[in-house]
Amino acid sequence: MTIEQLKAKFIEKYGDGEISGYFSPGRVNLIGEHTDYNGGFVFPCALSFGIYCLIRTTDRKTVRFASLDMPFEAEVNVEDLNKAIGREWVNYPIGVFAQFMKKGLTFDKGADLLFYGDVPTGAGLSSSAALEVVTGVMLNETYGFGIDRIELAKMGQKAEHEFALVNCGIMDQFVSAMGMKDHAVFLNCDTLAYDLVPVKLDGVKIVISNTNSPHKLDSGKYNERVAECHAAVAAIQPFQQINALGEISWEDFLIVEEKIENETVRRRARHVVSEIQRTEEAVKALRGGDLVKFGVLMNGSHDSLRDDYEVTGFELDTMVEEGRKIEGVIGTRMTGGGFGGCTVSLVKEEAIDTFIGQVGKNYEAKTGLKPLFYVAEIGDGGKRLF
Ligand code: GLA
Repeated sequence: MTIEQLKAKFIEKYGDGEISGYFSPGRVNLIGEHTDYNGGFVFPCALSFGIYCLIRTTDRKTVRFASLDMPFEAEVNVEDLNKAIGREWVNYPIGVFAQFMKKGLTFDKGADLLFYGDVPTGAGLSSSAALEVVTGVMLNETYGFGIDRIELAKMGQKAEHEFALVNCGIMDQFVSAMGMKDHAVFLNCDTLAYDLVPVKLDGVKIVISNTNSPHKLDSGKYNERVAECHAAVAAIQPFQQINALGEISWEDFLIVEEKIENETVRRRARHVVSEIQRTEEAVKALRGGDLVKFGVLMNGSHDSLRDDYEVTGFELDTMVEEGRKIEGVIGTRMTGGGFGGCTVSLVKEEAIDTFIGQVGKNYEAKTGLKPLFYVAEIGDGGKRLF
């Protein structure tokens, strides 16, 4: 859908008048999975697809929500923009309105909103963070609140905690707010210090493979992993003073590992601590132009998520196994929260057609699901379009 078509849809719905448009991207994480809520490193990039929102302020004291993708619509009084509505999609934007209200900010005018997404939902590419960040960037600018980008990302994360009941880390909202074209964001999720690292992949592309097995990133399994990490910290604390798994080095972990009595909790911690080390090494490798090493670390990340963290599952593992059979695949792993969703692979340009053809055919034969493939373009973080 073009911007002009989107504007036409807005006018069709709400009538003629002035309109502003905003966009925030989804993301693909290259490496550093399930490390963000442990104060570790992540290395995601913003995608060229995401969520659009068109807005017009009004003299009414209500905000109207509509989407081209979801049938549910709502009209909410400006004082009630901090109350969830069932389990509807509008809770993501409402969750963000609520964060502004918590800061004592008020909406002196009503608004008409129309959302549209070209990022696949439920595919682990952060459509929800894109929805939160586009709402934050848009409200901040429209109502002149003057809040900085990193704070907007944190407000998106809080919206996710309080209105979607997922205790997520900061990665998705951060990269959706702060990403930059052709760069990945090397983020320390403890201090929020970050570096924009150019992604120059000579003759190699980032390919995203969608298993089409929707990831169920509900409060269930994801929050269970968050709790297991807290249990690991508690088990380590008598031996080493840490507040998060991100504070222990791999070498020190090897010394205290055996003190974690619960075997599952021990494996969860092993994934997190080793993944943080892999992420640092991967960034070094990319900066030094060593893509082969980067690929080896990606593969190691997937195996650790499969064996120790147990967030992959049959579909993601099949996609990765089939990908690894193709010559010209430098590395391949699941990306995002897991339990379905997408994989990310570095593939030599000349091997992309074979990759899509072969992996597609073999994956479908094994799972009965038709996968989708996207050659990723790294785009900018959230912005005003017009
Ligand atoms: C989801 C969460 C992120 C992060 C990833 C796993 O995308 O929203 O905060 O924890 O899972 O790396």
